[in-house]
Amino acid sequence: MDTARTYNDVVVRQFAVMTVVWGVVGMLVGVIIAAQLMFPELNFDLPWTTYSRLRPLHTNAVIFAFGGSALFAASYYVVQRTCHVPLYAPTLASFTFWGWNVVIVLAAITLPLGYTQGKEYAELAWPIDVLIAAVWIAYGVVFFGTMAKRRVKHIYVANWFFASYIITIAVLHIVNSLAIPVTLGLSYPIYAGIVDAMVQWWYGHNAVGFFLTAGFLGIMYYFVPKQAGRPVYSYRLSVVHFWALISTYMWAGPHHLHYTSLPDWAQSIGMVFSLVLFAPSWGGMINGIMTMSGAWDKLRTDPVLKFLIVSLSFYGMSTFEGPMMSIKTVNALSHYTDWTIGHVHSGALGWVAMVTFGCIYGLLPRAYGRPGMYSQRAIELHFWLATLGIVLYVASMWIAGVMQGLMWRAVNDDGTLTYTFIESLKATYPYYAVRLVGGLMFLAGAVIMAWNTWKTVATSERVAQPVLDPA
Ligand code: HEM
Ligand code: HEM
Repeated sequence: MDTARTYNDVVVRQFAVMTVVWGVVGMLVGVIIAAQLMFPELNFDLPWTTYSRLRPLHTNAVIFAFGGSALFAASYYVVQRTCHVPLYAPTLASFTFWGWNVVIVLAAITLPLGYTQGKEYAELAWPIDVLIAAVWIAYGVVFFGTMAKRRVKHIYVANWFFASYIITIAVLHIVNSLAIPVTLGLSYPIYAGIVDAMVQWWYGHNAVGFFLTAGFLGIMYYFVPKQAGRPVYSYRLSVVHFWALISTYMWAGPHHLHYTSLPDWAQSIGMVFSLVLFAPSWGGMINGIMTMSGAWDKLRTDPVLKFLIVSLSFYGMSTFEGPMMSIKTVNALSHYTDWTIGHVHSGALGWVAMVTFGCIYGLLPRAYGRPGMYSQRAIELHFWLATLGIVLYVASMWIAGVMQGLMWRAVNDDGTLTYTFIESLKATYPYYAVRLVGGLMFLAGAVIMAWNTWKTVATSERVAQPVLDPA
């Protein structure tokens, strides 16, 4: 078939398959560090497998390798379909795939070896940062090039979200990574002291806001209506909450630095903007869930839709919890405790991973020219394992977190501490065990998905889909 008349799904398929592969790897490392917190001897007394080196390996693998691959796959898939043109600059698109995967492999080698810039979610050594910037700029050229040659005047809302995430991540990554190199593995940031901390959490929070939120909302705005067979509930709401979300997120970073030497007024700005953020976040959640109006019955039979709707519910929960945790007095209890870890994974497992699973199950067969995945029953089993796994993970961390916060602040009449730190750690062990079981269930679901993906790919004929004419 004429390639100008078919969608370019080669790179979509590559990223979709790697989403599943990196998902299993990243979650396996998550399970290992969850086990190490219970059984520290599992680091086998080797420097490469210590908790402090495997933890950033986990966060980088799940956020950038698993989540990033899903975002590349979905944005390339969606921008072609909604602009009615094949992908612009396919060779450059291929460079983004290979470049991104080289970044991931380099991360998997350097982090266990102990190379780190010590900035959370921005640990990688400066040469890798340069490669990330090159890949990201190429990504922007492919995405915006495709949008520029679109055959419809209108820009579908999913593309607004993808566009904002691509631009913002470029700015965040480049500004936060500015450093003076000393050797290949060592560099010093150009910022110092509290300015460094503020730039880092401006980056860190907006990585949550744009990588883990705006990008995945782009996915949601295409795949929920598609899977439900219904139009977006309110187009006006989608535009209003888009602008509100991206303008509010930028100011919320200081809530990561409560009670530090950051000036008090800056902490208060972070808190107020976080509270405001509740409204645009719920705008998106409500718009997604209400898109199901008239199609609720499909939830009984379609496991893909179940993934998407449960993800929206967790998005709603974590964006209610986040603003609460940003209130200084609440943060005084939650900070440093496992409550934060519960919040993170209600967003990361409940929202990011669940919407990714729903998207890949919807996208993968279509990109391979098949009516559906190899096994629907395997998707159903994955859904229940994942959902129950999240509940165990998140509920145990919430309870453990509040318990730790209360134990650490308890004082006797004479002003001495009621509990030692070790006592609070011992009290946490049962919850670590529950979290480990939840994590194992979540991982088991991802392994089933990998098997289903393997079978789907092996039995497909890779038929290219024709570019549809605009209606
Ligand atoms: C099988 C699934 C998973 C398990 C068992 C797991 C386990 C863990 C553990 C044990 C930690 C360290 C907690 C601590 O330091 O006390 C952690 C941190 C983290 N995980 Fe996961 N994880 C899983 C999946 C994911 C996924 C899918 C994502 C993102 C999409 C994610 C994002 C994070 C982040 C951002 C942190 C750092 C949190 C912070 O610094 O506050 N995890 N995970
Ligand atoms: C309205 C939305 C949200 C607000 C206002 C918010 C607020 C917060 C607050 C106050 C903290 C604790 C900071 C601390 O004590 O150090 C936090 C931590 C975190 N949140 Fe959220 N959150 C929101 C949504 C989300 C979502 C949807 C995700 C994931 C997809 C997420 C991921 C994280 C991560 C990874 C951390 C840990 C950062 C770290 O210390 O390493 N948040 N958030």
